[in-house]
Amino acid sequence: MTDEAQPTETRGRMIRGWMARFYDAMSWVCSLGGEAKTNREIVERAGIKPGERVLDVGCGTGGQTLPAAEVTGPGNVAGIDPSPDMLERAREKAAKKRLDIDFRGAAIEKLPFDDQQFDVVLSSFMLHHLPKDVMRRGFGEIYRVLKPDGRLLAVDFTSGRSLIGRVMGFLGHAHKLEGLNGIKSMLAEAGFSTVEELPSKQGHLFYLRAQKMDQ
Ligand SMILES: C[S@@+](CC[C@H](N)C(=O)[O-])C[C@H]1O[C@@H](n2cnc3c(N)ncnc32)[C@H](O)[C@@H]1O
Repeated sequence: MTDEAQPTETRGRMIRGWMARFYDAMSWVCSLGGEAKTNREIVERAGIKPGERVLDVGCGTGGQTLPAAEVTGPGNVAGIDPSPDMLERAREKAAKKRLDIDFRGAAIEKLPFDDQQFDVVLSSFMLHHLPKDVMRRGFGEIYRVLKPDGRLLAVDFTSGRSLIGRVMGFLGHAHKLEGLNGIKSMLAEAGFSTVEELPSKQGHLFYLRAQKMDQ
């Protein structure tokens, strides 16, 4: 049995304490108030449809988990994060909106779900929190829990294409272009048959869509 008040063991960089309490406010400031729009865009770009089963890995305070649940309908969305502090905020926000979401304390490298459960996995702004080997194991886990025709949408910062990206890189929050190429290769190694980068209007963000099986 897991103790939900304790952090899940991981070598990923989790967000705890006061950083978790102020995470939403900091995101709002850093995105100049645009984070809700970006979160809705992530859900749209993942092509999430009513009734689909969705897992949000590194869900944090639920920025993308809640809008995903608004599309799928009740009981279809799960979110995992190793930080109990982030999950506490996510649960409060879901309760306020009366959204039925299965939030669990867990890490990407050991997902607490059976094989082939989900149509879509979302990973937003969390890959830069992981050492490479943990990321590789995490991609293997995502592949395992996706249904045979399931898909992953991974969104994160890159430092290679804009000034904001370079600032994010300086702060340790962005992948260099080599790192982004490394992520694409790791996804292919995990078994994904198609890995494509979607166009991004913001130079500091990349959107990767990985399909488990060609359709
Ligand atoms: C920058 S936050 C992003 C949260 C949310 N997806 C968002 O965009 O608002 C990164 C999250 O990754 C989580 N994290 C760190 N290591 C992790 C791991 N091994 N597995 C899953 N999540 C992890 C952190 O605790 C944190 O909540």
